[in-house]
Amino acid sequence: MEAPLEIIRSARERLGKDLVILTHHYQRPEVVAFGDFIGDSFMLAREASRSTARIIVFCGVHFMTEAACILARPDQQVYMPDPQAGCPMADMADADDVSAALQRIAELVPHRRIVPVAYINSSAAVKAIVGRAGGLCCTSSNAQAAVRHALTQGDLVLFLPDEFLGTNTAHRLGQDTVPVYNPHAAPRADGDQPTSGGLAAGDLENAKVVVWKGYCHVHTWFSPEMVAAAREKHPGCSIVVHPECRPEVLALADGSGSTAWLVEQVREASPGATVIIGTEVNLVLRLAHSLCPNMYRTTVSRLARLLQSFPEQNRMSVDPSVTADARLALDRMLALA
Ligand code: 13P
Ligand code: SF4
Repeated sequence: MEAPLEIIRSARERLGKDLVILTHHYQRPEVVAFGDFIGDSFMLAREASRSTARIIVFCGVHFMTEAACILARPDQQVYMPDPQAGCPMADMADADDVSAALQRIAELVPHRRIVPVAYINSSAAVKAIVGRAGGLCCTSSNAQAAVRHALTQGDLVLFLPDEFLGTNTAHRLGQDTVPVYNPHAAPRADGDQPTSGGLAAGDLENAKVVVWKGYCHVHTWFSPEMVAAAREKHPGCSIVVHPECRPEVLALADGSGSTAWLVEQVREASPGATVIIGTEVNLVLRLAHSLCPNMYRTTVSRLARLLQSFPEQNRMSVDPSVTADARLALDRMLALA
């Protein structure tokens, strides 16, 4: 049996330009080493949409690979080394719940025009609902531009599924009041007022953005106390975090941005500077608790096994009934300046 590194090397030689390997920043360093492109979810979605390779291998999680399937040409094949690598936050927005939410919010505030914005960390079915409703996708690198764009199409944005990226984005756009729609909320006793998702019409009156109650367990692990402790331990350090962290954490940090932006901050730091990064461990290799177990599922052995025989169970596809509408939402995102 050939060693994994040999298998990968010979597959690359055999396939040449027919193969492209896309790897997310959170992958293990030994997997990142094989990436033709290494980036944040926006960059990788864009590369998937531009690639001319016959075979796209995506080392990331399920929603990223699904986005690649939606953006790829029909003659391109998309594979994942471990199709079980999901994203618990993406699973927090069920397609039926999202349709119901759009309808219920519209019933609460019938005079408002609601435009949904789906974080790319969402299923293809959710992206399709968003595309059909005139909304668009976003990543952490263009969430502000996406919400700003949505507010030119309507006057109330439903941002899903990340409560914290949505709230942080709304704060940056000057919105202090950001109501939270909880799809599992029990009906509220609110006199005669109809309620939905834990909200009544009055809660939405002055809001421009309403956020879905979802979160990333990796990024919500960071607390304001940790930021304060890091500052005390490393006076003069710069602390940068991913915008999936809680607003209280962002308020104490020096800046926030996508994984690509975080990498850029380290690259640009002056020699000897201390940069403390609040995000997933494979990018930081320091904060052991912030590991994303799903990103970690991709190993060099699994990549080698995939490249050896391209088993059918690793081939990814999206239900054709949602592809066109989901593509609308992704294309609107890719068209943002
Ligand atoms: P980026 O878009 O910053 O790469 O983030 C993706 C992600 O899943 C962060 O948890
Ligand atoms: Fe999903 Fe969080 Fe992992 Fe990113 S870090 S893939 S949001 S679980």
